[in-house]
Amino acid sequence: MTRIALLGATGSIGRQAIEIVAAHPGLELVAAASGSTGIEGLAPLTQTGGDLTELLEAAQPDVVLNAVVGFAGVGATLWALEHGVTLALANKESLVAAGDLALAARERGGGLLLPVDSEHSALFQCLEGRRDVELDSIVLTASGGPFRGRSRDELAEVTVGEALAHPTWTMGRKITIDSATLANKGLELIEAHVLFGLPYDRIDVVVHPTSVVHALVRFRDGAAIAHLGLPDMRVPISFALTYPERAATPVPRLDLAAGLTLEFEAPDLDAFPLLALARAAGEEGGTKPCAYNAANEVAVTAFLDGRLPFLGIAETVERVLRDADGSPARDLDDLREADAEARRLAEGALAAA
Ligand SMILES: NC(=O)c1ccc[n+]([C@@H]2O[C@H](COP(=O)([O-])OP(=O)(O)OC[C@H]3O[C@@H](n4cnc5c(N)ncnc54)[C@H](OP(=O)(O)O)[C@@H]3O)[C@@H](O)[C@H]2O)c1
Repeated sequence: MTRIALLGATGSIGRQAIEIVAAHPGLELVAAASGSTGIEGLAPLTQTGGDLTELLEAAQPDVVLNAVVGFAGVGATLWALEHGVTLALANKESLVAAGDLALAARERGGGLLLPVDSEHSALFQCLEGRRDVELDSIVLTASGGPFRGRSRDELAEVTVGEALAHPTWTMGRKITIDSATLANKGLELIEAHVLFGLPYDRIDVVVHPTSVVHALVRFRDGAAIAHLGLPDMRVPISFALTYPERAATPVPRLDLAAGLTLEFEAPDLDAFPLLALARAAGEEGGTKPCAYNAANEVAVTAFLDGRLPFLGIAETVERVLRDADGSPARDLDDLREADAEARRLAEGALAAA
């Protein structure tokens, strides 16, 4: 039996994870957490709000599936890595904000870090059994979101409802807005850098509207290995929870004869500046990625609340990145301070706008 602690159990990833666990006789939910929705009875140990590491200490799971949204997932990510407990990671924000601390904790803990983000799960699978020296570069695909093809001017008036209408994935509200601005791909770019240790100039992003190719790896001999599948998060969730078994799922097979078209195009960095801002923040390092994430969280909440126009999200993040100190965090307290400072700067930018 693999004993799983599921954090973010009421969310889009959390609900799909419950389905995967229920269908697999070798998986057992021993603990579950949510932010504010009651979940009593879902698992032997449950918690709503509060410090997630207290639940993890009490549960002592074999696997932590971190499907919390936002910086709130940082403590649990670091706990799992520090304790050598397998971490199935959907909460990309924690790896973006705490990349250096997470790598140091993984080094000390010695456990597995299995990405659940579909692109990174795909990369992990394409890279299995390969040595770093064989690798040329990696490519993340982006659906382009609901506003693909629009110019910057055409994005000025878009509504929350339009931004939440994602063409290929059904997800939580925050990541859906991040997909519309391409901040999601920016976060994933930094996540890929942390996970796979490649410099930013060897990580590319291409837009691929149908989301069938999740990522690809280019090797030094000229070959490229891509990972294909229908856009369905149950596949990477199941892969991480049953690794290295690759258990069966009810997800439909890919039907290549049904007129599958694979189109790719370069992202429009003018209309979607949050992708280039993430690359710059990642290259600067220190706590700049933490500031990028914090400012984006504040700006997305303001957009969803009707307090900020769509283009204001990138403007807020750009301003915070300019003003944030960015010096490296020595520990979680330092990181929390950098996160709080970036949030203060973002709120200040919103008040001044
Ligand atoms: N959805 C996808 O397809 C997808 C794909 C790839 C990666 N991801 C990543 O997976 C994570 C979750 O995404 P999602 O779409 O599942 O989000 P979601 O539907 O908004 O769910 C978020 C979950 O986090 C919980 N939560 C929020 N704040 C919390 C806190 N302070 N402490 C404990 N739990 C808290 C929520 O609980 P309440 O319900 O009580 O608020 C909910 O269970 C994000 O990092 C996202 O980027 C998602």
